[in-house]
Amino acid sequence: MKSLMKWLILAVISSLIAGCSMSSTGEESTDKHSENGMNHDMSGMDGMDGHMDHDNPLPLKDSNGFNELAVSPLLEKNTAGDVDYTLTAQKGNQLLLEGQTTETYGYNGDFLGPVLKLRQGETVRIKTVNALDEDTTFHWHGLDVPGDVDGGPHNPLKPGEERIIEFNVTQEAATLWFHPHPHGKTSEQVYKGLAGLLYIEDEHSDSLNLPSDYGINDFPVLLQDRAFTKTGELNYEAAYNSDGTLGDRLLVNGTLDPKLSVPQGKVRLRLVNGSNARNYTVALSSGDSFQQIATDGGLLNEPVAMDTLKLTPAERAEIIIDFDGLQDVENLSLVDDQGTILLPFAVNDGQTSSEIPAKLNSFEVTGEERNLPVTKRLELFGMMDMVTINGKKFDMNRIDMTQKVGETEVWELTNKPDPMGGMIHPFHIHGTQFKVISVNGKEPDDNLKGWKDTVALEPGDRVKIAISFKNKGVYMYHCHILEHEDNGMMGQIEVN
Ligand code: C2O
Ligand code: CU
Ligand code: CU
Repeated sequence: MKSLMKWLILAVISSLIAGCSMSSTGEESTDKHSENGMNHDMSGMDGMDGHMDHDNPLPLKDSNGFNELAVSPLLEKNTAGDVDYTLTAQKGNQLLLEGQTTETYGYNGDFLGPVLKLRQGETVRIKTVNALDEDTTFHWHGLDVPGDVDGGPHNPLKPGEERIIEFNVTQEAATLWFHPHPHGKTSEQVYKGLAGLLYIEDEHSDSLNLPSDYGINDFPVLLQDRAFTKTGELNYEAAYNSDGTLGDRLLVNGTLDPKLSVPQGKVRLRLVNGSNARNYTVALSSGDSFQQIATDGGLLNEPVAMDTLKLTPAERAEIIIDFDGLQDVENLSLVDDQGTILLPFAVNDGQTSSEIPAKLNSFEVTGEERNLPVTKRLELFGMMDMVTINGKKFDMNRIDMTQKVGETEVWELTNKPDPMGGMIHPFHIHGTQFKVISVNGKEPDDNLKGWKDTVALEPGDRVKIAISFKNKGVYMYHCHILEHEDNGMMGQIEVN
């Protein structure tokens, strides 16, 4: 009944404002929806639930743990030639479902991308190549870089084109990622498999002796939900939801039904929510706590003990799980808040030993930053294709705000609820990392006291951030529900 009311209210609003975006999913894809067991049937009211009910998104299936988690290759640095790395966006095929091949996109391979490991202080030259038959861009999410190499919608590569970009790595150790950002097509290209992780290391992080043996006690954990058609394809159009495309199957690093074999001792997981729209609240099935050691853009000052951790799209968290003493726990796994098994663990006889230092970083919101007046206000509003920032939709030819390079300003972000309650918007800013000063006038949670490039706003939330840009250029800021971004919940700031 509640959802019927919601639908009626929404139907009125949507016919008044913009017309229903769902027409773009097309009647012809309706049958695909039901094949997936996803009831998005356009002819009935029930079908609207998938679009409307933000509290009960499409449930995920448990991982049965049949497949060992894929650990993406590290991208090798060229020792000869004029570029350090080459990244090619290309089409591919992947065996994901038993006996079926899935058409995918990938970087330097069939599906997803390699891990690009960079060091603070180095200058890198990367050749980016578009081997797709549509435009794409290479966006470095979380990286402090000049606007002209940030890979936003202004820098498309046409099919067959390549571009060499060069930048200095100035920021501290962090887990970042890269993905495409072509105008209006980000969500579909990410959905098909364009995403990779970007690690930054520095001397300080080396000195901490954190678990850092890649694939042994330090694992990437890229979380993405997908819907498969009966024939095993990733059909974006068929799965499309203007409020954020969801799937009922979880892929971790591109592995369906993954499990992770781990040694006894402290293991570092670099959690990345690379989903178009799904939020994950993760926990250990045993109820044991774990330590969060890093946010989106760097290490926390000290490990924060957590029982559950929520990650909205694009957010990252590095966590340490101590598997010592967990080897006898039955069905130990990473679960979500519905109890769904995301990633089962198999604790083996291997041993890994590292101690996590009590002091990890020296991040600080200064008194000066705290006392700065608010100079920019951004109001996030809406749902489906009726999403706006300060009442406006994205316009590539409009610069919404300007800021001086190197100057810290305080922005106030608000998520204005709508008559139906509203929804979480994960707000992201390109080209820099920022500090959360307060959430609804209060000190942020301990695990928000670190560098962030994406911050989740619940309906009604008011978040103050201190932000400065080290480089010049035009940068996007947007909701990282990728369908909201593509539907225009994005603006641009020029830093000069
Ligand atoms: Cu992940 Cu516009 O960014
Ligand atoms: Cu970004
Ligand atoms: Cu949004």
